[in-house]
Amino acid sequence: MVRSAKSSASPIVGPLHHFTANELTRVQERLLAWYDGNKRVLPWRTIAATEPDRNKRVYAVWVSEIMLQQTQVSTVVSYFEQWMAKWPTVGDLAQATLEEVNQVWAGLGYYSRARRLHEGAKKIVEELNGEFPDERDSLVAQLPGVGRYSGSAIASIALGKRVGVVDGNVSRVLARIRGVGADISAQSTSEHFWDLANQLVDPDRPGDFNQAMMELGATVCTPKTPSCESCPLRNNCVAWNRSAEQRQTSISSHFKSNKKSDEREASNIPDIECLPTCEFCLRKEDWDESQGVMNYPRKAQKTQSREEMSAVVIMKCENGKMLLVQRPKTGLLANLWEFPSIALGTGKEDKQEQEMRDVRRELEGKYCLTPTQAASARHISDVVHIFSHIRQTYRVYKVSLDVGEGITWPEHYQGGHWMDKTEFLASATSTAMKKVLKAVDDSEQKVKGKKNKGAFGDQPADTKKQKTISHFFTKINKSR
Ligand code: ADE
Repeated sequence: MVRSAKSSASPIVGPLHHFTANELTRVQERLLAWYDGNKRVLPWRTIAATEPDRNKRVYAVWVSEIMLQQTQVSTVVSYFEQWMAKWPTVGDLAQATLEEVNQVWAGLGYYSRARRLHEGAKKIVEELNGEFPDERDSLVAQLPGVGRYSGSAIASIALGKRVGVVDGNVSRVLARIRGVGADISAQSTSEHFWDLANQLVDPDRPGDFNQAMMELGATVCTPKTPSCESCPLRNNCVAWNRSAEQRQTSISSHFKSNKKSDEREASNIPDIECLPTCEFCLRKEDWDESQGVMNYPRKAQKTQSREEMSAVVIMKCENGKMLLVQRPKTGLLANLWEFPSIALGTGKEDKQEQEMRDVRRELEGKYCLTPTQAASARHISDVVHIFSHIRQTYRVYKVSLDVGEGITWPEHYQGGHWMDKTEFLASATSTAMKKVLKAVDDSEQKVKGKKNKGAFGDQPADTKKQKTISHFFTKINKSR
């Protein structure tokens, strides 16, 4: 059972889950030495370490931290470089349009982050004379989308402020090294991690220390298959010691009782519980031998992601232009361009005829297609895209038109635009919509293939293939 410490009252937390003064120093020294020898060279780190202008440092670290919210370092690097090349200062970003910002962001997901960066830049320029605040709390107060984590990361990395950070990677490292067996998503557990992180952060190199904690979590103390053998904090780690204890027991109980292993430097680490009443200990009966250090962290059961289904209609004219509509200014995928979408209930797989009727009715009623045009809508395929908490199925439909004249769109969209493939790929659209277009493209290629086969038999092997949209995507991804 995962202990979920109640959020109102402070839980009872035994000494095992705190650091002694000695341990604080050891962890700082060991982690920084490891970071100096192992850190990844990342563009925002280089700017933070070498840029003399405080404002430019804060700007670069702010952009990187917002990009790194929910996105992996390896994906962020090229987006960051492109962004900084286009808008090297906060003043440059403030002058951009939201459309341009969304274009550079396209593919990175969670698009509200881009909007907040843009809003933040305008605020800094218009209200704060172009100068970023220089304390964590004022960064949080002034910059939209900057909370305790991002504010602390910016303040420590760009400004050298002595504040700790806690993100998913740091939580896992702390849960393991301090043997925290309470639900990591509980507020009281998170508060404890913040207390630990603030005590632990190195006073002289807070930015490096915080990045080292994140780096350790991302590369060594990983959720599955952690590399404990190469971990600099192994000897300070409750999880490691607890599993070492188990390994020793299974090898030889004789050794364990007669000789203290040099692995067990943190000799105050007891086998099971630090205090009988401690609410953060992982009880013996909850310890799974096969999991070793991965017994930590513990998480209460995940809430299931929501299933959603919508029809996406590609209306395509003979000249190749397709209707794209711009999403509302707020909400999921705000301001992005998408193919007209019609919400469907889930579980309609066995009611396809009803669904087809609904789609046609919407096309006639809300897009002003003629009954003949609406009746030509064909289901092509399904595309599934996972958003953070939504499993979205797009039922892809295609309507072939001579021209787009007379067609309109519902009021909740900001506008509509007929685009060819090239314009579509250059506009601010989500990855999900790119997948949809690829499905259409694949289906068109298939139809073409069948037609060619029917007319001329199999094509000779050396026939030059038509470029597909997937070719396009590969090219674009490679050049990022
Ligand atoms: N995740 C968030 N911020 C980071 C940083 N500065 N370095 C590595 N990973 C991170």
